[in-house]
Amino acid sequence: MILLEVLTSATDYLAERGVENSRLNAEHLLAYALSKRRLDLYLEFDRPLNEAELLPLRELVRQRGNRIPLQHLLGTAEFYGRQFLCDSRALIPRPETEQLLELALAGLPSDQPVSVLDIGTGSGVIATTLALELPQSSVDATDLCSHALTLALENVTKHNVKDRIRLQQADLFPSSGTPYQAIVANLPYIPSKDIEDLSPEVQHDPIQALDGGPDGLELFRRFIASASHHLSPEGRIWLEIGYNQGEDLVTLLKQNRFSEVCLIKDYQNLPRFITAKK
Ligand SMILES: C[S@@+](CC[C@H](N)C(=O)[O-])C[C@H]1O[C@@H](n2cnc3c(N)ncnc32)[C@H](O)[C@@H]1O
Repeated sequence: MILLEVLTSATDYLAERGVENSRLNAEHLLAYALSKRRLDLYLEFDRPLNEAELLPLRELVRQRGNRIPLQHLLGTAEFYGRQFLCDSRALIPRPETEQLLELALAGLPSDQPVSVLDIGTGSGVIATTLALELPQSSVDATDLCSHALTLALENVTKHNVKDRIRLQQADLFPSSGTPYQAIVANLPYIPSKDIEDLSPEVQHDPIQALDGGPDGLELFRRFIASASHHLSPEGRIWLEIGYNQGEDLVTLLKQNRFSEVCLIKDYQNLPRFITAKK
C-alpha cells in the first residue's frame, strides 16, 4: 500500500471506532510511526510502505481505536506552542487552559520579578509556561499526587526552568512560601456523578485530576476560604472553572471579601474563567 492508502484506511478505521478528527489522528500516528513531521507526509503520499513500517503503525491505530488518548500514544502534548511530555501520570493539558494562561499573563509584569503559585500543577504546563513567559518570575507549584509531580519535574527539566520552579507535594497550598502576587489554578471541577459519562479518552486522565466532589465545587470552596492568606496585598487569582459554576463562584469569592470579581468567557462564549483581587 502507498502512504495515502494507509492514511485513508487508518482514518476510516478510527472514524468507525468513534474517534473525533479521525484524519488528523491518523496523520499524527503515521508521522510518529515514520519519525516524520506531520506535514511532511503530504510530500510522500505516493511512497509505498513496507511491512517494517506498517507493523508499529497498525498497533498504534489499534490502540487509538480502543480510545487510548492520542497524546498518551505519542507521549507528548502541545501547550502554548511548546511540547510537553504527557502520560497517564497527569491530566492531558487542554486547549482551554492556554486561555487561562493568556489571561494571567496579560495581568502580570514580564519585566519585573513576580512570585506566582500554580495549584494542582499536574504535568507542570501552567508553571512551566509562566516561568518561560515571565523570565523574572519565581514559581511555586503544588500537587497532591506524587505521580503527577514526577511528570512535572520531567517537564520543568526539559524546558530548563528547574531553577525557578519549586515543586511541592501539598494539599492545595505549599506549607511554606512567601505571599504570592498571583495564584493560577486549574483545579478539578467535575461533579463526581458526571465522570462516568465523560468520553473514553477522558477516562484515562487520573480521577483525582477530574473529581471536584458532589457538586464539583469542593476544591474551590477550600481554595477560596484560604487563598487570601497566601496572596500579597492586591494579589490576584485566576481560575479555570466549569461552564455552569460561575455564579456560585462569584458569590463565594464576594463572601470571602475578594474584589474585582470577574467572570470571563472562553472562545466558545462560555464563562470558563474567573479572576479576582485580594
Ligand atoms: C484539572 S488537573 C490540572 C492539571 C494541570 N494544571 C493542567 O492544567 O493541565 C487538577 C490537578 O489538581 C491536582 N489536585 C487534586 N486535588 C488536589 C489538592 N487537594 N491539592 C493539590 N492538588 C490537587 C490533581 O492531582 C491534578 O493534577
